[in-house]
Amino acid sequence: MAFTIAIDGPAAAGKGTISKAVAAHYGFAHLDTGLLYRAVGARMLDGVEPTLAAQTLRAEDLEATNLRTHEVAQAASKVAAIPEVREALVDFQRAFARRQGGAVLDGRDIGTVICPEAEAKLFVTASAEVRAERRFKELQGKGSELSFEQVLAEVKERDARDAERASAPMKAAEDAVLIDTSELSIEAAIAAAIEEIEKRRHAD
Ligand code: CDP
Ligand code: CDP
Repeated sequence: MAFTIAIDGPAAAGKGTISKAVAAHYGFAHLDTGLLYRAVGARMLDGVEPTLAAQTLRAEDLEATNLRTHEVAQAASKVAAIPEVREALVDFQRAFARRQGGAVLDGRDIGTVICPEAEAKLFVTASAEVRAERRFKELQGKGSELSFEQVLAEVKERDARDAERASAPMKAAEDAVLIDTSELSIEAAIAAAIEEIEKRRHAD
């Protein structure tokens, strides 16, 4: 049985954490679609033209070690505004979504563009300050010297670029359930997500 769960939302809202836990809970496969754009962004920083990078993306590009840096995050959101880059990544994501056994995809446009027919859609969000604090702590753990203010400015800049682009902008699908994790622990956020998905699993 194919059952697709679409999880969208802005940077550091908790999409990845929730998606991994939901996938483990149901025994579904999980695709972090941000990694595709990060891998294209990383190749652009290496001098490869972004559309070509997207068209020739290989599985091993997703395993590059630098994909979680803030430079790559910014590059990812720049290449993600190029329609040809997005187009080159559609088939892979749709095939993943419909695989037997169920799939969880997280990103920005999963519920709106990649899988408008997904059985369950969540839009996970949190205040910019809370999200920047989370990212700041993660980056500090990796030895980054960026200040909280710099991380906050970058998160806001990337969110604005993602929400305002013409091609597949970040937005909640009309039938998505909103989960605000600003005041939720990780465990509570995961429980809230599973509770909503359970309603969809028993919908018919
Ligand atoms: O995938 P996305 O960028 O939306 O966020 P994430 O990587 O799942 O979460 C970003 C950080 O926030 C991680 O360090 C999580 O552990 C943390 N987090 C949290 O503190 N509270 C939550 N309710 C959700 C995530
Ligand atoms: O982990 P975080 O939420 O900070 O970022 P990400 O999910 O890894 O996504 C990095 C960038 O890729 C985003 O800022 C978007 O510009 C882009 N992206 C997108 O356009 N569409 C997606 N489905 C996923 C990511």
